[in-house]
Amino acid sequence: MPLHRGNTEAPDGDGPGRLSVNPFFGEANPVGGMTEAPPRHRLPDAPMAPSSAYQVVHDELMLDGNSRLNLATFVTTWMEPQANALMAECRDKNMIDKDEYPRTAELERRCVAMLADLWNAPDPSSAVGCSTTGSSEACMLAGMALKRRWMRRNADRYPGARPNLVMGINVQVCWDKFCNFWEVEPRLVPMEGERFHLDPQAAAELCDENTIGVVGILGSTFDGSYEPIADLCAALDTVQERTGLDVPVHVDGASGGMVAPFLDEDLEWDFRLPRVASINSSGHKYGLVYPGVGWALWRDKEALPEELVFRVNYLGGDMPTFALNFSRPGAQVVAQYYSFLRLGREGYRAVQQAARDVAGQVAEAVEKLGDFRLLTRGDQLPVFAFTTAPDVTAYDVFDVSRRMREAGWLVPAYTFPPHREDLSVLRVVCRNGFSTDLAELFVEDLSRSLPELRRQPRPATHDKGAATGFHH
Ligand SMILES: Cc1ncc(COP(=O)(O)O)c(C=O)c1O
Repeated sequence: MPLHRGNTEAPDGDGPGRLSVNPFFGEANPVGGMTEAPPRHRLPDAPMAPSSAYQVVHDELMLDGNSRLNLATFVTTWMEPQANALMAECRDKNMIDKDEYPRTAELERRCVAMLADLWNAPDPSSAVGCSTTGSSEACMLAGMALKRRWMRRNADRYPGARPNLVMGINVQVCWDKFCNFWEVEPRLVPMEGERFHLDPQAAAELCDENTIGVVGILGSTFDGSYEPIADLCAALDTVQERTGLDVPVHVDGASGGMVAPFLDEDLEWDFRLPRVASINSSGHKYGLVYPGVGWALWRDKEALPEELVFRVNYLGGDMPTFALNFSRPGAQVVAQYYSFLRLGREGYRAVQQAARDVAGQVAEAVEKLGDFRLLTRGDQLPVFAFTTAPDVTAYDVFDVSRRMREAGWLVPAYTFPPHREDLSVLRVVCRNGFSTDLAELFVEDLSRSLPELRRQPRPATHDKGAATGFHH
């Protein structure tokens, strides 16, 4: 008999005398074994034990590739245990709920401030920015801001006039999406000869009074090369002198925005150039965070029309938001702050330099094999693209991609866009975690595949248009 008594002791039975048990707490099948195989494409009628459900899902996922051997993706595939712990601690935090999670919101604010400083905003305190799910969302937001600014400037002519966006044909698919979704005409500068990205002069010539902006990429998804952003701005300065048109530039720094500030400090590509209105980058690429976090920043408040920013009070508080979605995890933003704090400028420089060194070494080793021609050498983004040498006729890049897959490596092969559809390449993305040791194994596997490939009567590929695993 306890010495103290509660307020009321309800009798057992239904109602207050029973504990309420969350249905998740019970083992659905206490005996353990499954009695019936669950349907694959229909919600099962009844629960199953968590251990069984875990095992079923876990086993199915074993057939996914090994992300560390994936040389197709730009996205981070390794973080430290401390970052994992922080992300686990934050997985229930909703980024939109800034009133409930003010510290997470504060960390987002600090990341924006750090990026404004890193990207040389003239007055970092008046630069505006936000986190996103990735660069795609960030590009949509930046494109919307460009379009709205153009609409404001052309209020008397809109909707009669059709807005256009000028960019290289090598833009990532997110820009095709932007133009499609927001009804903006894409004006694409084609590739030409050995130029695999935008030409500043050609871009300037495509601009007219309906151009909402020009996109410059640091660096190109196709081959890792940096587009000449400063030359692009200079060409647009000349357009302004000649015609009065003041065309803003958006820099898609999905990858390079987190590489150039550490490795190419003298390269002017960012807010140092007055014509650069906005910049995006993927926190989950060379920002070194697991997917999905991206960043969009505007030079100042004028570059981001106020009417695009919504204020919501249904979660408490009155928070401004500029985003395509509403709810989204806070864990990635916290992990970004962790990485910034943990590495600092020196740490990021070391990590990116290591990736660039590996890229340079692997590119050189691939070139030495004799069967390949390098298009880029990994000295801008730590990414290089290569194709077969002109005298190689027995096999093509698609065959190489397939053979490397047999050894566990994912190396995408794809054709280039107009006017270089004749060119098919392989691309290797060197990321943090692709160590010198792994790189050596990669070159060994590539070298080992060559004798058999050389013995082929002809390339085995039938559908050259079908790229193998071309990831963002
Ligand atoms: C230049 C460029 N822009 C945009 C994107 C889209 O980025 P995200 O995957 O973060 O949406 C990518 C992805 O590779 C890219 O390379």
